[in-house]
Order: sequence, then C-alpha cells, then structure tokens
Amino acid sequence: MNIVYLNGEFLPKERAQVSVEDRGFLLSDGIYEVTPAYRGEFFCLDQHLNRLRCGLNALRIEYDPEELIEVHQKLLDINNLTDSEVAIVYLQITRGVAERVHYFPPADTIPTVYAFAKQFQRPSIESWLKGFRAVTVPDRRWSRVDIKSISLLPNVMAAQAAVDAGVDDALLVKNGIALEGAQNNIFVVKGGVLVTHPASQEILHGITRSVVIKIAHSLGIPIQERPIQVEELETVDELFFSGTTTEVRPTVALDGKPVGCGEVGTVSKAIYAAFRKKIGQPIDQDL
Ligand code: PDD
Repeated sequence: MNIVYLNGEFLPKERAQVSVEDRGFLLSDGIYEVTPAYRGEFFCLDQHLNRLRCGLNALRIEYDPEELIEVHQKLLDINNLTDSEVAIVYLQITRGVAERVHYFPPADTIPTVYAFAKQFQRPSIESWLKGFRAVTVPDRRWSRVDIKSISLLPNVMAAQAAVDAGVDDALLVKNGIALEGAQNNIFVVKGGVLVTHPASQEILHGITRSVVIKIAHSLGIPIQERPIQVEELETVDELFFSGTTTEVRPTVALDGKPVGCGEVGTVSKAIYAAFRKKIGQPIDQDL
C-alpha cells in the first residue's frame, strides 16, 4: 500500500483527497520539490528545502518547511523504500483552499502540503554508455523559472515534443540561447572546459547542477557559467543533462545530428563516475 502525506496526516494514497477549490488545482498557485534518497539516505535534502524556502518567500506563501525533514524520512520508512537503490520524495505546497480569485486569498488560508515517495529506476550502465538523444524545443515558459512552480505546461509540451521525436530529452532554447532541459539542467564540454548557463532567473538552480560544478572543481576541470548559443552546440565535444531524476545523462545526438563524435565523452564519464561515488553507489566497471 502506498502511504502519502497530506496536511499533517500519513494515509493510503486512495484516501488522500484535495478540494476542487485548492488554488493548486485552479490556478497552479504552488511550488514543488523532488529529492532523491540513495539506499535510505537523502542526498542534499537541506539544499532542496532551502530552494523550497526561497520559492515560498518569492510567492509569499506562509509555511515553515522545518517539519518536512521528518516527513521525508517517514515516507521512506513507511513505504519500505530505505533499501531502494534510488527513491524520490515528491513534495508540493499550494496556497491552499479558497474561493477562486486571482489575488491572494484571506491571510488565514492554510497551505496544502502533499508528499509521496516512490522508487526510481535509473537506466542500466549499458544504455548509459550508449548515450541518449535530445531535440531542441522553443522555451515558452514565464520569466521566473528559478521558482520551482507547479505550473509546468510548457515543460509538459516540451517533454512531449521529445517523446514525439522518439528521443529522451528536450533542450529549451530562448532567444538563441540553450538554457536547460524540460526537467533538467545542461552542461556542454568545449575544448576541455565545462560550460553551463549561469544561475539566473531563466533556469532552475538545480541541486544536481551545483553538485556537478563541485565535482568539476574537485577533478580540476575548468568551468564557465555563461550563456550557450544554440549554434555553439554544433561544435561542442560533449553535452549532458543533470537533475534529480536524470542524475548525469549524456546526449550523443541532438536534433538527429551527432554531438561531438557521437559517443559519450570522457568528461561526462568522469563526472558521472564521481557523482556515483559521491552518492555512495560507485559503478563497478571502469568508465
Ligand atoms: N526537475 N531544470 C528544470 C526545469 C527542472 O524541472 C529540474 C528538476 C532541474 C534539475 O533540478 P534538480 O537537480 O534540483 O533536480 C532543472 C524535477 C526533478 C522534476 O520536475 O521532476
């Protein structure tokens, strides 16, 4: 039985109900987080909760996420996920249930807090080594995508464009700049330098992105945070996506054309190997 958390209660998913007047349902008025746990140990939970705090402040939703540390752990325990190689906890907070108006509801409106845990299946190392494919898609999102809003329609459309094209990832492009994926950040490697878009309001400040940057520093790989022109993608040596449910995912073909030499590159491999070591799940075979 899947036990979820809703507004202070742990209960079977089938019994968890949210009002049709919830502002998340009516107006997408809320934010979310997805945090990974590796064999029962949360990875970067503080950073995820800090990003959540920033989102709550930006949207002026009054809620103290302190209790959520315990909620996260209990969801893993109660659903027998502590032995899973990878599990994730999805958390969503909306402004709560109120009569539909566009402006904020009365100050005593209580935010809705919902969370669930589930197992996550990463691709096999064999398929990782073959690499993944992506397409570029116009970025049609709003101008504050650093807030992890539940309003994900443009991301949904972009992810479906990737599915329709028969590939794994959508790379969002705005004003000629390759920003990030529909659910992940991007990195390219050019002449041995790792490049990623700066942590501006035009991308989500991915927690995995910051882990990758730290790993690059520790491996002595030079890193630049600057916009990546879409034309540059034709001359990069490597490209990979990063994210909680992506980890580090190398792209070997973009829009049907090979990226670099069309194989998973050495920098992507070194970073993924270091990432796996950091989460306590090193890869058996040499990358
Ligand atoms: N997505 N960019 C976007 C647009 C994202 O939605 C995400 C995460 C990321 C990577 O962030 P992080 O490394 O903190 O997971 C970047 C989550 C996993 C999701 O929507 O399910």
